[in-house]
Amino acid sequence: MHFVKTIQEVREIHKHPGGGWGLVPTMGALHKGHLALVERARAENKHTAVSIFVNPTQFAAGGDLEKYPRPLEKDLGLLAPLGVDLVFAPSAEEIYPPGFQTYVTVEDVAAPLEGALRPGHFRGVATVVTKLFNIFQPDRAYFGQKDAQQVAVISRMVRDLNLPVEIVVGKTVREADGLAMSSRNAYLSPEERQAAVVLFQALSAAQRVYEQGVREAERLREVMRDVLAQEPRAQVEYVSAADPLTLQELDRVRDKALLSMAVRFGTTRLIDNLMLE
Ligand code: PAF
Repeated sequence: MHFVKTIQEVREIHKHPGGGWGLVPTMGALHKGHLALVERARAENKHTAVSIFVNPTQFAAGGDLEKYPRPLEKDLGLLAPLGVDLVFAPSAEEIYPPGFQTYVTVEDVAAPLEGALRPGHFRGVATVVTKLFNIFQPDRAYFGQKDAQQVAVISRMVRDLNLPVEIVVGKTVREADGLAMSSRNAYLSPEERQAAVVLFQALSAAQRVYEQGVREAERLREVMRDVLAQEPRAQVEYVSAADPLTLQELDRVRDKALLSMAVRFGTTRLIDNLMLE
């Protein structure tokens, strides 16, 4: 497993013939969700690369950039046995050298939900992901369904800019009680950790109602809000039942719907989602 910190070194490794790269972009603090993406990338590509970069441009000023976990040695230890060919962990200056001023902006699909509450977040994501695609030129890139709007934004960007990469989406990996794996779960106190299962309970309650035949999107949102309201530690930021491609709120579920939510527990913000099909 090569471990490199510069774009030049990535390019050198790419010069070797053979092609066929799968890229798993991450911000590190790897959990089973990331590792499942890596295993899939390994199975589907000749070579696998993982990037580990806590991308400053997708964090709000005063957000959790400074305290975001960076357990690099532990991450490398998790990746080594998986047969990853290349790990790229650049500095912020390597990705954003002095004078940097070019950004990628995806419009409508990046505007609601996470985009509305975290202004500039998806501009940072789209910019760094474009740079990673240019640096690695992968055939496939792997993202988790847990960040459903991120998947929608990146997929739109890839189509709009004709980027020659296939976006592969891995299922959300959950703890035994249903909590979606996330690097931010580490911030939760034991009490908040217990309370956080309410996200999956709310999504599951809406799914049950849907399976019983309810198609009014507002009723689905109401079911999720009711379940979340039963947990006093949960401060709800949004609850959504939207079109999975455009992220526009639905009146009625006709085909697919993406149920999603953002909920704060103390200072920790969690998101989760579930697709109705
Ligand atoms: O999902 C993430 O970890 C990040 O948003 C990504 C895609 C690595 C871009 O920084």
